[in-house]
This record gives sequence, C-alpha cells and structure tokens, in this order.
Amino acid sequence: MDERPLVIAPSLLSCDFADLRGEVARVEEAGADWLHVDVMDGHFVPNLTLGPPVVERIHACAAVPLDVHLMISSPADYAGAFARAGASVLTFHIETTDSIAGAREVVGAFRAEGVETVGVALNPDGEIERVADLLEDVDLVLVMSVFPGFGGQVFLPEVLDKVRWLRERGWAGMIEMDGGLNAKTLPLCAAAGADVLVAGSAIFGAEDLAATVGGFRESGEQARNEESRVR
Ligand code: DX5
Ligand code: ZN
Repeated sequence: MDERPLVIAPSLLSCDFADLRGEVARVEEAGADWLHVDVMDGHFVPNLTLGPPVVERIHACAAVPLDVHLMISSPADYAGAFARAGASVLTFHIETTDSIAGAREVVGAFRAEGVETVGVALNPDGEIERVADLLEDVDLVLVMSVFPGFGGQVFLPEVLDKVRWLRERGWAGMIEMDGGLNAKTLPLCAAAGADVLVAGSAIFGAEDLAATVGGFRESGEQARNEESRVR
C-alpha cells in the first residue's frame, strides 16, 4: 500500500488570483506534485470560483498535473470542457448522483473524454459505503475533511475512519484528502492511508513555501512508515 510516493497538491483556492502564473511557478518551485483546482458552481456549494477558460490558462503555465475538483451539480455535462482545458485528474462528488448507475455514467463521460485519472469525492457526512460499488470504476477516492465550499476550515478527524475502511477493504487506488490539512493534521491523513494530500491556506499562508511543502512530505512519509511498522 505504501509503495506509491505521497502527492502534495497545493490548492490554488488560497493563491493570489491576480497573479496566477506567478503563484503556479511559486508552488511548483516549492515542490508541488500536483496543482489542486477547486471548481465551484454556486449551486452544489454556496460559492463560485472558476471554470474551463481559467483551468486552460493554468494548464498553459503549469508543469505538473492539474487535479480538478468539481464541486458542481452536473459534472458529466462539463467533462469535455475540463478534459480539453487540461485536467489530468478529474473528480466529481457522489452527492451529485442519485444511483450507482448515475455515478457510473459520470465516470463513463469522463473516460470518454480521455481523462487520465477519474476520482469520486465524498462529503464529511457521507457514508463511505456510498462509494463501495464504484471502486472498480474509479482511480481515486477523495475523502473530504471539511464541507466543500471554502478554504481555511477546521479538519474533521472523524473522516479518517473512511480512509482506514478503504485500505482495510484492500482498496489499492489513490486516496486524496482535502480540507484543513496542516502540519498537525496531514500526518494523520498519511498514517490512515491517504496518499494525495491537498492543502490551501497552510501552504499559501506560509512564509517559506518550499520548507512547508518539504516538511509536509517528510512528516507525511514518516507517519506512514511508522504506521506500517506497527501493523
Ligand atoms: C474546499 C476545497 C479545498 C480548499 C482547501 O471546498 O475543496 O480544496 O481549498 O483549503 P484548506 O487547505 O485551506 O482547508
Ligand atoms: Zn478541493
């Protein structure tokens, strides 16, 4: 389970949007593995952010993969737009579908557009069993550790059980965690079995970005190794 390197994915939601190009360069130089891009529609979540044209411009100046987190009500309708804009990872919320068949249709729409890595996200109050039947269809499960919509919220530790549940069940795909990750909470995520770690305010709010990203990687890897030793 631990062979895959940890992925540190700064969330651009906390960057200076007036200087996207500069901010992308700044986090890439600091060691970002992926760039996490939060797309909100003012409907699925009570906030609005950005759409395909902006993702396309981020892609044009980015060297690392774009991890696009769709917090929008009709994800399948926008599969082509985000795939063409350059999303390497495209994740939709299970709460936007009302059946497993509906969720599979979204996955199918993403795959039909050539998305490399397809993810499904689950809100903090969602039962992990909701994604159980979808595990064979997706590459990544995003376990939300805050309610989606805003950066800078407090980490909800009870969601760590979902990460453990997935690993105990033998899920070998990627597990991403998003919301409230910082120097204290990120190692808990890695120890539980998460390997894609998103942080917005904790990275962009730091004085030394490289030290922060490097520190997150180191403490995450250490927590993961300690956990595998006690098992
Ligand atoms: C929340 C977003 C997150 C957000 C995380 O809806 O999905 O990606 O940017 O921000 P922090 O790390 O500040 O909690
Ligand atoms: Zn996000």
